Amino acid sequence: MARLKLAVLISGTGTNLQALIDACREPDFPAEIALVISSRPGVPGLERAGGAGLATAVIDHKAFKDRAAFDAALDRRLRDSGAGLVCLAGFMRLLTEGFAQSWRDRLVNIHPSLLPAFQGRHAHERALSAGVRFTGCTVHFVRPEMDQGPIIVQAAVPVHVDDTVETLRERVLSAEHRCYPLAVKLIAEGRVRVVNEIALIAGADTPRAAILNPRDSRGR
Ligand code: GAR
Repeated sequence: MARLKLAVLISGTGTNLQALIDACREPDFPAEIALVISSRPGVPGLERAGGAGLATAVIDHKAFKDRAAFDAALDRRLRDSGAGLVCLAGFMRLLTEGFAQSWRDRLVNIHPSLLPAFQGRHAHERALSAGVRFTGCTVHFVRPEMDQGPIIVQAAVPVHVDDTVETLRERVLSAEHRCYPLAVKLIAEGRVRVVNEIALIAGADTPRAAILNPRDSRGR
């Protein structure tokens, strides 16, 4: 079967891009990366893409008079690439409503919290200040409103009493690197459909038991 063509949109480090690159190297992975686009020049994610022999483009948001002009250029480049799924991976630009509508259910994002908690920036700082026992990450279809849209995959990550923003970010990032390839695989296999704005996953196997944090010390 033909592999689903991905375009991955980045603005920075690109560790999620790297997770997708690594997944696509597996012979039975049902997707491949057709293009990596960065909204900023000179970011490490572009080096990762170049190192993996992938086509790259920089569409520098500073070169455009407004968001609509930037999104139009992005849209043209994506259509030329033949991408069937666009993956936002640390892409730090808000997209216009028209763009989100025209890529509806073919545009996914990863966010470093258990949405709908901690939408927007500084998710880890806010998780720590709120004292939540779990945070995590979410891969979801993009809707025009920021960090909204049907949830495809989430991972829950415990918050430790001595966590800093950095230790928590690292723990969540390693969960992100498992979630994003899984979400792409499920979509590429045609196992995800959106009904009444809920993503339904065919053949999903989810844990039945609650995970407790902190767990009772007698459990050791
Ligand atoms: C990731 O933690 C991703 O969830 C987050 O930016 C980071 C990018 O890291 N995205 C957002 O906050 C979007 N709202 P990466 O460049 O190493 O993949």
